[in-house]
Amino acid sequence: MGLDCRPGCVYVDGTVGEGGHATAILNRTAPDGLLWGLDQDPVVLQAAAARLAPFTSRFRLFHRSYAQLGEILTEAGEPAVAGILLDLGLSLHQLQRSGRGFSFQGDEPLDMRFNPERPGKTAADILNRATPAELEKIFREYGEEPRARRYARLVVEARRQHPFRFTQQLVKLVQQAQGPGRRTGEKNPATRVFQALRIAVNRELEELALFLGQAPAWLLPGGRLVVISYHSLEDRLVKKKLLAWDREGLMRRLTRKPVAPSREEVQRNPRSRSAKLRVAEKVGEKEKQYGQTGDPPIK
Ligand SMILES: C[S@@+](CC[C@H](N)C(=O)[O-])C[C@H]1O[C@@H](n2cnc3c(N)ncnc32)[C@H](O)[C@@H]1O
Repeated sequence: MGLDCRPGCVYVDGTVGEGGHATAILNRTAPDGLLWGLDQDPVVLQAAAARLAPFTSRFRLFHRSYAQLGEILTEAGEPAVAGILLDLGLSLHQLQRSGRGFSFQGDEPLDMRFNPERPGKTAADILNRATPAELEKIFREYGEEPRARRYARLVVEARRQHPFRFTQQLVKLVQQAQGPGRRTGEKNPATRVFQALRIAVNRELEELALFLGQAPAWLLPGGRLVVISYHSLEDRLVKKKLLAWDREGLMRRLTRKPVAPSREEVQRNPRSRSAKLRVAEKVGEKEKQYGQTGDPPIK
C-alpha cells in the first residue's frame, strides 16, 4: 500500500474503518510496531476494535478526525510518526448497514453524518433549509452534477409539499428529473447527488485540506503519507499538495501519476475501481539511503 511498514515504528491509519488496512499494517510491523487508528464513526470503531483485538496492546483507536492527529500526538507525547494512511470515503458498513442514508438502494433517514454524535446538519437539514443557490453549488461542486440547477429547483419545489426525510424521496426526484429513458452510462443518476450531499454534510474537502496543511509536520524524516481517494475533487487536492511539497523540498512525491488498482483487485472489490493512490515521503535522513536518482520502491 506504499507505507513501507517496519517493526518498531508508529503508523497512523487516519480512516481506520473496520480495520482492513490496519490489520495489514499490524501484520507487516510485527512483532512490535504500533498502529493508531482514527475514525469519525463510533460504530465502525467498535467493529475495528473487535477485528484488531488479537493484536492486543499494539493498537489504539481514537474517535477523532484525521485532521486532529496533532492533538493525539501532543497527548501521547510523540513528536511524529513513521507513516500515515488515509483511505477516504465511506466504508462498506456505512453504505450497507449504517441506516444513515448513504445508499440510494434502501429507504433510510437522510442523515449521512459519519459521526452521528456530532451535532450538525444532516443531509435532510441541507435539503430542507439550504437556499436554491447553496443547493446548486453543492450539487455542482461536490457532485460535479451537470443538472445542478435543475435539481436545486426541484428540491425547493418538492420540500414545500413534503420536507425531505428519507432517501427514496430524493431518489424519486432524481429519477423524475431524468425522465424516461434518459439514463446514460452505468452510474445510477442519484450517485452524484448522494455523493455531493455526503461531502457537504461531513465537510470532507475542508477536513482533507486541514489535514494536508499539517501532515508533513506529523511525519518523521523518511516517513510516508499514503492517500487513497475515490473522486476527482479529493484527488485534485492531494495531487496539488504533493506537487507543492515536492517543489518546496519538504516531501518527495513517490507517485507522479496515481496508482490504480489491479484488475484482480477490482474483481475482488468492485468499489475500488475508482481508487487513486498517491504516496509522498518526508525529506530527511532516509533520503541518503536512496541517493539522488533512484526512487525507493513502493511496497
Ligand atoms: C473507505 S473507509 C476506510 C476503510 C478502511 N481502510 C479498511 O480497510 O477497513 C473510510 C472511513 O473513513 C472515515 N472517515 C471519513 N472522514 C474521516 C475523517 N475526517 N476523520 C476520520 N475518519 C474519517 C469513515 O467514517 C470511514 O469509516
